[in-house]
Amino acid sequence: MNYRHLFSSDVPSFMRSPVREIFRKVDLSAICSFAGGYPAAVTFPVEDLRSLPGLVLDKYGTKALQYGATQGVPELREAIAKRYNVPVSMVQITTSSQQGIDVCTRILVDPGDVILTTEPTYLGALQSFKAYRADVRPISSVRPPKPGEVCADAPAPKPHYKFIYVIPDFNNPSGETMSLAEREQIVALARELDIIIVEDSPYREIRYTGEDVPMIRELAPERTLHLGSFSKIFAPGFRLGWIIGPEELLEQIYICKQALDLCPPVFDQYMATEFLTSGALDANLVKTKAEYRRRRDLMVSLLDKYMPEGVKWTYPEGGLFLFLTLPEGVDTIEMYDEALSKGVAYVAGSFFYLDGSHRNTMRLNFSFVAEEKMEPGMKLLGEIVKKRIDGTKTL
Ligand SMILES: Cc1ncc(COP(=O)(O)O)c(C=O)c1O
Repeated sequence: MNYRHLFSSDVPSFMRSPVREIFRKVDLSAICSFAGGYPAAVTFPVEDLRSLPGLVLDKYGTKALQYGATQGVPELREAIAKRYNVPVSMVQITTSSQQGIDVCTRILVDPGDVILTTEPTYLGALQSFKAYRADVRPISSVRPPKPGEVCADAPAPKPHYKFIYVIPDFNNPSGETMSLAEREQIVALARELDIIIVEDSPYREIRYTGEDVPMIRELAPERTLHLGSFSKIFAPGFRLGWIIGPEELLEQIYICKQALDLCPPVFDQYMATEFLTSGALDANLVKTKAEYRRRRDLMVSLLDKYMPEGVKWTYPEGGLFLFLTLPEGVDTIEMYDEALSKGVAYVAGSFFYLDGSHRNTMRLNFSFVAEEKMEPGMKLLGEIVKKRIDGTKTL
């Protein structure tokens, strides 16, 4: 049967994730993959999880197996509210922060509306934005007219701005963190345009060096939807996250989520509640941060050792990624097949730019790759990069 004529007009806007395509094509266990964004399995609290299900059943009984409130179970909302020092009414539990991005877009965006983002930006967010046929533009595209500037043609219609999407802490893909001044600029722009900020912060709690910078939510609580996630601080398999935001916005998200999934997974929410309120989450976070700090340091020392001159990289103070910039003319998309065939994977950085530019960049993940593969993988990558740089010199 031909189904094409039956698909909705949204379908052509759906965007495949190049990262997930890599996973589909390659047996990642057979190579050295710096490509994915998976947490290190050693950070999963396997021992706690042996007892948590029994504890949840004893404490909550069959309630833990029943449908639950669309906003999330009260116990988990309260625990998040306490952790972030906000009223419970400002907390919505989500089926992961990916759903958080999606529902925020769904309640705010009509086809053609403009979402502003910093670049490079998270691919999964772009997938949601495109699915709702948003017009996604870099923040730099908002340019106030210069004094005295005259427009010869009829002025272009004013874009219908809806929100600014940012990942202020340990950005995926760049690993960088926004300074307070940069956050204040985002808030000032949102106030000027009278729009919302979606602050996507799944890595915020994984800071292993440096000082916390205030959340954008703290700077502009009246216009920020702050997205958090249990994926990197508990386990992504539970698919749990949260949104903190103004009640009026959460009310629309609440109605929207009724149609999406009725409620977030109830048993998992009770496990997360117990994990959080018992102090086990914070104890595990100490180990998690130590693990990622060690891995970041290892990757940085390997980059120092194996990358040829002219290659630069970011130095993340938290999170799971760092971002490489190679000399102009080296194309990481073109280089990719060679890297893969030799046994090393990365994600080309241009996928994280709206116009596909910055083809000389790449994202490297240091949380997932088996540690013993890191040195041979980086050595290989260094050789491939060097060969390409030498090739551009002889052109
Ligand atoms: C910036 C960012 N936002 C959201 C997500 C989605 O996380 P989850 O849906 O597992 O909470 C990710 C996952 O890697 C991410 O990097």
